[in-house]
Amino acid sequence: MPQPTGKPLLDTALGFRQKRPPIWIMRQAGRYLPEYLKVRETAGSFLDLCYNPQFATEVTLQPLRRFDLDAAILFSDILVVPDALGQNVRFEKGEGPVLEALGPTDIAKLKPEAALDHLAPVLEALSRISSSLDKNKTMIGFCGAPWTVATYMLGGRGSPDQAIARLFALEHPEEFSALIDILVEVSAQYLIAQFKAGADIVQIFESWALNLDDVAFANYVIDPNRRVIEKVRAEIADAPIIGFPRGAAGNLAGYAKATKVNVIGLDYATPLEFARSHLPDDLGVQGNLDPLRLVAGGEQMQERARTIIEAFSDRCHIFNLGHGIVPQTPVEHVEKLIGIVKG
Ligand code: CP3
Repeated sequence: MPQPTGKPLLDTALGFRQKRPPIWIMRQAGRYLPEYLKVRETAGSFLDLCYNPQFATEVTLQPLRRFDLDAAILFSDILVVPDALGQNVRFEKGEGPVLEALGPTDIAKLKPEAALDHLAPVLEALSRISSSLDKNKTMIGFCGAPWTVATYMLGGRGSPDQAIARLFALEHPEEFSALIDILVEVSAQYLIAQFKAGADIVQIFESWALNLDDVAFANYVIDPNRRVIEKVRAEIADAPIIGFPRGAAGNLAGYAKATKVNVIGLDYATPLEFARSHLPDDLGVQGNLDPLRLVAGGEQMQERARTIIEAFSDRCHIFNLGHGIVPQTPVEHVEKLIGIVKG
């Protein structure tokens, strides 16, 4: 049995329910903060910022200086992994990530052996952040799940339906499974390195768990997530893990059971009653306020936040948005939300 650590967020994930839910916010370091935009202007490209331990440490800590958040999340991106594998990745203003899309013959050219060395500055940032955190704050590491990262590697950019990656998986099953195997191995090694550098818990972002039939969900989402988690726990016993299969809907319970995550992240479209009745009582939940409610603020935001807290008051619950905070969010609304969650 794990013992409580005195970090409310980590303890919640370990099964120790708190009086009030702890809170962090997906994308809590980012463009809604003027101090982030300032660093962003001087740091060079977005990837330059991710690979500069001094700047990455600074922007990670910015939201904790302003708000009473329970955790720091490493400032980086899920797409540093394809970059580390040797694929060309750029972040275009107003357009998001752009990658040189891989074809079937490109998979064998990826360089998994070199990946962890390439990520050394990110691990250096994580270690600096974790050693400067107050002892009641939880250090969160993360990676993208293999399928979600593969959708960007194969499609070259985000898309509403991931059609390029879905078709690739069906037309080139061998190359697809070789790519997933690479991502499983590198993601596991990366998460293990993050725990060794000071992460208390990690979140696996499966942002594109939607649009999959149940066979595809089992093969692209559940199985690779389970393999990553098993590899991590073979090295870091009982490693605490949050899974965030966005859009998993009716597949949520199956995902949680097969992967053995401690906590499941709920997107904002997940009905509270569905989560309450379909997820095992001893599974922690995270979420799930619609980020646009935080933009709009006011009574509708406050009431919904209270409803979410009430719905999960009888189980381990980490309060969060149901997806990342958006750039136009007023800082005062974040302040207000945290006040409500902290009671
Ligand atoms: O949560 C945090 O504060 C930690 C940092 C973090 C970023 N990206 C920083 C970022 C984390 C955890 C991510 C995860 C991530 N990145 C995901 C999974 C979560 C999700 O949103 O579904 C995905 C799909 C990506 C890929 C990605 N990175 C996209 C699609 C974009 C462009 C869209 C956007 O919001 O601009 C990014 C860029 C990005 N990653 C920014 C930040 C702060 C904005 C870039 C900038 O500052 O110019």
